[in-house]
Amino acid sequence: MELIIDTADVQAIKEINELLTVTGVTTNPTIITKSNKEPEVVIKEIADVLDEDQLFFIQAVATDFDGIMKEAKEISQIRPKNMYVKIPVTRDGLKAIKECKKLGIHTLATAIYSADEAFLAAMNGAEYLAPYVNRMCNYGDGVQEVKDLIEMLKVNNLPSKIVAASFKNTYQAHELIKAGIQAETLPPDVIMNMVDHPGTKIAVGEFTMNWQKAYHRTTLFK
Ligand code: E4P
Repeated sequence: MELIIDTADVQAIKEINELLTVTGVTTNPTIITKSNKEPEVVIKEIADVLDEDQLFFIQAVATDFDGIMKEAKEISQIRPKNMYVKIPVTRDGLKAIKECKKLGIHTLATAIYSADEAFLAAMNGAEYLAPYVNRMCNYGDGVQEVKDLIEMLKVNNLPSKIVAASFKNTYQAHELIKAGIQAETLPPDVIMNMVDHPGTKIAVGEFTMNWQKAYHRTTLFK
């Protein structure tokens, strides 16, 4: 599975990138505003932190076809490779995804609330599909809907990858990893909750305490 970080917090990206095997970074307009920096500044900072093989996803802000296409071309030129344009699956968005496919621009279909929307975006050539798992849970069983999507792509031989998004807890992430999801984009707090199990800290504390009591040091050899 590809692990992607869903944030524009450059410090968090640096830390998680050192700690784990990270495929890339996703942002959206709201995520960028939370950085409290100008978009040009934070986009450059993130691009500088990533190595050239890591993927960088930036969302088009324009909502009409021409505007999305203009921004798609701009986004795709930010780095020489591995730039992906996130396009919401509106009518204009679906048209733009189809056009990007023709032009060889990498796309991620986003703001997906149903397996059907995702499926149609896959038919238009979106390379990644981002169902909003947690938000979908407001309308039904978001996790199950994404499991359906996994199956729909498989039986129809469509090559698009699902990058499940909008996670609020590790349970949602766990269930979809178990179902064979191709990628997940997770916010730093959910990633760190997966990393930092309190039981592990207690176990390590016990090992150190017992060792210290017996040998009066905290290293294996003197
Ligand atoms: C990422 O690609 C999505 O834009 C993001 O996960 C949405 O998350 P939210 O539901 O927390 O806004």
